[in-house]
Amino acid sequence: MNFHILTLFPEMVEQGLNTSIIGRACEKGTLSISAVNIRDYTLDKHKKVDDYPYGGGAGMLMQAQPVYDAYLYVMEKLKTKQRPRVIYVTPQGKVFNQSMAREMALEQDLIFLCGHYEGIDERVLEEIVTDYVSIGDYVLTGGELAAMVMIDSISRMVPGVLSNKESGETESFSSDLLEHPHYTRPEEWRGKKVPEVLLSGHHKNIEKWRLEQSIERTKSRRPDLYQKYLSNQ
Ligand code: ADE
Repeated sequence: MNFHILTLFPEMVEQGLNTSIIGRACEKGTLSISAVNIRDYTLDKHKKVDDYPYGGGAGMLMQAQPVYDAYLYVMEKLKTKQRPRVIYVTPQGKVFNQSMAREMALEQDLIFLCGHYEGIDERVLEEIVTDYVSIGDYVLTGGELAAMVMIDSISRMVPGVLSNKESGETESFSSDLLEHPHYTRPEEWRGKKVPEVLLSGHHKNIEKWRLEQSIERTKSRRPDLYQKYLSNQ
């Protein structure tokens, strides 16, 4: 799967995503992540990419031309003829969740558009954006962190990215339940013992205990999710 990120801060995105699991998947060729610097596409001789909003108001806006030309550059590079989804990360979008991550992981190419300043000229958004997505009801200084959060979460749903195929599917949110608690060695730490059932080797009982823990945890920590779980039973 190929991620293309249109941004004014390409090094932020590249450095943030080149370590650990995502970095390894890029080395293997399962993923590719390329950041395109919008500033490289401005026709302004001083490399300016922003200007004042018509009608007045606080702050500056990113201009349409450099964003559009950076987008055209990515489109020319694509190997497929299919028009890819272009995701504008913005607090005005639909709130991202695990099922969106799963669904987006099926795409061959995804283009992310990261805004800065007060936003981007509406006309280029109308021209190129297919999805408006937010990572939560709070405001960041720019779209890069939001794009990185989404890319990380989408990537782990791409086959071959996680080494243990199971772990992408049997975790929090996959069934509207939070994951059960985990324990590793030693058997006792600061007087706290690992629950007896986990040492029993009795797989059926372990599964039953884990499900009960998941339900209990969801009920107390995420009552909203618990209601969703109940209504799907
Ligand atoms: N850009 C600024 N805030 C954002 C948010 N909450 N989600 C996505 N993109 C953003």
